[in-house]
Amino acid sequence: MSRFSSSRLAFLKPYTPGEQPQDKKYIKLNTNEAFFNPCPAVFDAVGEIAGKLRLYNDPCATRLVRAIADKLGVLPENVVTTNGSDEALAFAFMAFCDEKTGVRFPDVTYGFYPVFAAVFGVKANIIPLDEQFNVRSQDYMHAKETVVLANPNAQTGIELGRRQLEEIIASNPDNVVIVDEAYVDFGAHSCVPLIDKYDNLLVVRTMSKSGALAGARVGWCVGSKQLIDDINTVKYSFNPYNVGTMAQAVGEAAARDGEYYAQAAAQVMENRDRLQKGLRELGMSFLPSKANFVLAKKQGRDGKSLYSALKEKGVLVRHFGGRIADYIRISIGSKEEIDFLLCRLKEILQ
Ligand SMILES: Cc1ncc(COP(=O)(O)O)c(C=O)c1O
Repeated sequence: MSRFSSSRLAFLKPYTPGEQPQDKKYIKLNTNEAFFNPCPAVFDAVGEIAGKLRLYNDPCATRLVRAIADKLGVLPENVVTTNGSDEALAFAFMAFCDEKTGVRFPDVTYGFYPVFAAVFGVKANIIPLDEQFNVRSQDYMHAKETVVLANPNAQTGIELGRRQLEEIIASNPDNVVIVDEAYVDFGAHSCVPLIDKYDNLLVVRTMSKSGALAGARVGWCVGSKQLIDDINTVKYSFNPYNVGTMAQAVGEAAARDGEYYAQAAAQVMENRDRLQKGLRELGMSFLPSKANFVLAKKQGRDGKSLYSALKEKGVLVRHFGGRIADYIRISIGSKEEIDFLLCRLKEILQ
């Protein structure tokens, strides 16, 4: 820390992003990226963009917002786009959480929630998942704080059912419920259709996973016009040009090609089955994932040593500590990548 740092920095434990190694080529199954390319229209959009970069981008991201609204069946006034969904979450924390409201989220979830709580000075009420790593809906009903839930949940991949999620939203009419749907496209249910019914529901989405655009940084919030106006107040107080011209163009192209991405998501789910079958054959257990990753463990082996042994063999997965220290998180890769991983796991476990 420098001698100029603010008092806030002293208590800040920043988020640790997954490794993006530059030293050699790995089979990279550690950061839940897509194993498939963006749709062909994205490649065309990139080629056309250089001549437009001289000018500032459209701060309203009008065309991207319209494409996302069309895709989701909502109005453009219900959408605001962001620099990845991390920024959407940051804006939501800024808009709807302060030291008075507080924020409530599970102990095992996306690692950025506690970081945002710390950086924005919001008291976090962290609720343990149950023994099987499920969100217990009663823990979030009639909350005293803003509620943040990833659904499917990060690190576990487990989906909270539609009915339970709606009960949480309905029982918190005076709190905003932020539902982070980063992984919803891999077989889970979206609660976007509920935004007309509940003015306290804010849904956060991203093109980093199912849109194969992690490097473009395209995310968004969906909610009632009033909630979106609040997010826009934060955005225009922070970085009005938050989504660059390139990101707007590729995001729009991707949002318009639903068919391509539906097929890609189906392929992810098929490969997820293939991975789970292989893990079972190796005597490993895993949580029931609706996401593009699987949290798996081998009885008697700690997750860290599995992670290290795989890395040595050229396969990167992710390892976390705490309650899931026994597990490794494996992103869903191509069939070839999964087979490679399974062969290496077999060698390690023999
Ligand atoms: C649950 C969840 N939300 C949000 C994000 C952020 O994604 P991005 O900022 O790339 O949109 C991630 C990334 O891994 C995530 O797991």
